[in-house]
Amino acid sequence: MNIVLLGAPGAGKGTQAEKLVDAYDIAHISTGNILRAAVGAQTPLGLEAQSYMDAGELVPDSVVIGLVKERLEEEDTDKGFILDGFPRTATQAVALASELEEMGRGIDCAIAVKVAPEIIVKRLSSRRLCKACGYIGRVSDAACPVCGDKLYQRDDDKPATVKNRLEVYEKSTAPLIDYYRGADLLVEVDGEQSPGVVFEQIQVALSQGSRRKETSCRDESERAVL
Ligand code: AP5
Ligand code: MG
Repeated sequence: MNIVLLGAPGAGKGTQAEKLVDAYDIAHISTGNILRAAVGAQTPLGLEAQSYMDAGELVPDSVVIGLVKERLEEEDTDKGFILDGFPRTATQAVALASELEEMGRGIDCAIAVKVAPEIIVKRLSSRRLCKACGYIGRVSDAACPVCGDKLYQRDDDKPATVKNRLEVYEKSTAPLIDYYRGADLLVEVDGEQSPGVVFEQIQVALSQGSRRKETSCRDESERAVL
């Protein structure tokens, strides 16, 4: 099962991706996590990406496309993958489609998690993360409930940067919802419910595939190349 997760910053892509990985045993490809690890390690990729990320801007397409191509060649993606935060521009979507076509693969489903901007601002100002294990938590967590490590706030979760990230999302990424709708691959879920209920909606869409009219996920057997 190959899934694209779409949604504004803070919509809950990472939260749902973790649940999908556990349930379907597929690879999690988060461009944000890859870039943050590179920034932390101060690799050449990280040095290039840092100023864009700090400003809430998108890292250039050529950089991100290259790193996703490399990641898709890793063996763990053979059993399926979730792309979390990629594609984010039309150029990235087209590059992904052509790369997957070359590999004889395709997208089965694009899930758009929908949340209103005012809820997103609240969520991101209270989000805290664990550097050690990646746990996504909230300011009310005293420490990481998984590994006990300290939680930190992402630099780009400060209010001014969140505002820009939302603007960038509307301009560059939201149009991809129509792109995947046009390819009959789009499923929209209400991301304002609890994480468990959002996940249930996603599971229903994935299990019913294209058999249900109001969802457009494809069975792997009828996978289309975009
Ligand atoms: P990235 O890391 O992808 O960030 P993002 O898209 O802005 O999204 P977030 O990770 O902030 O939110 P999320 O949707 O994962 O929500 P989460 O589950 O954590 O990208 C960061 C930066 O990297 C970009 O700005 C850009 O610079 C660069 N970048 C990355 N990919 C790129 C690309 N393809 N091209 C170019 N540049 C790229 O949840 C948020 C909070 O809400 C948490 O506290 C969580 O506990 C809570 N929550 C989640 N679900 C619910 C729920 N249902 N109810 C209540 N609370 C919830
Ligand atoms: Mg995320």
